[in-house]
Amino acid sequence: MKTKVQQVEEVIKTGTTKEELAEIHRIINQFESVIKREVTATEVAEIDKVVRGHEGKLYAEIQKIVDDNRGKAGSLIRVLQQAQGIVGYLPKPVMATVSYDLKVPLSEVYGVASFYHFFSMKPKGKYVLQVCLGTSCYVKGGDKIIDRLKKDWNLEPGGITPDGRFSLEIVRCLGACGLSPVMAVGAEIHGRVKPSKLNEILDSYN
Ligand code: FES
Repeated sequence: MKTKVQQVEEVIKTGTTKEELAEIHRIINQFESVIKREVTATEVAEIDKVVRGHEGKLYAEIQKIVDDNRGKAGSLIRVLQQAQGIVGYLPKPVMATVSYDLKVPLSEVYGVASFYHFFSMKPKGKYVLQVCLGTSCYVKGGDKIIDRLKKDWNLEPGGITPDGRFSLEIVRCLGACGLSPVMAVGAEIHGRVKPSKLNEILDSYN
């Protein structure tokens, strides 16, 4: 499986295809009904107040990333990827800051962050669980793993456990169909996962 950095590098290198652009524009149009304009300096000052309060260092780091990438090809994707690397995900104030500093409409920042699956607008857990619901895994009971995570861990797809230890994503194929049903915990793949063994597996991650 390609790492997120490799995926981003590939997108930057190969550019965005026509189909991908069409999809990005579709997403942007959705957002445009809500956000019809760029972020104003006043709003950024508000964001600044909140972010600078306890995370001023983080804000300064994001501004440095923007400065280092300004005017370069693929700058928006690269800036978002590096900002996510620092914060762990892309919260609204970070996207608004990137929009203002990079002079890119907020709708476009949202569109790009929503389109590429390596970006997340929600916080991630210390360990990201990826449960496969591709055909092979689904047939072998991948959905039972999801049920068990909901029941025992109060964890929904896209959610995070209250202690921040695990977050959950659904994926289509992890490339290990012979081991269905498959679940990844971070970079580690677990095959033939039995729901009854799930707690034992997760308890081994602290
Ligand atoms: S379908 Fe689950 S790993 Fe391929």
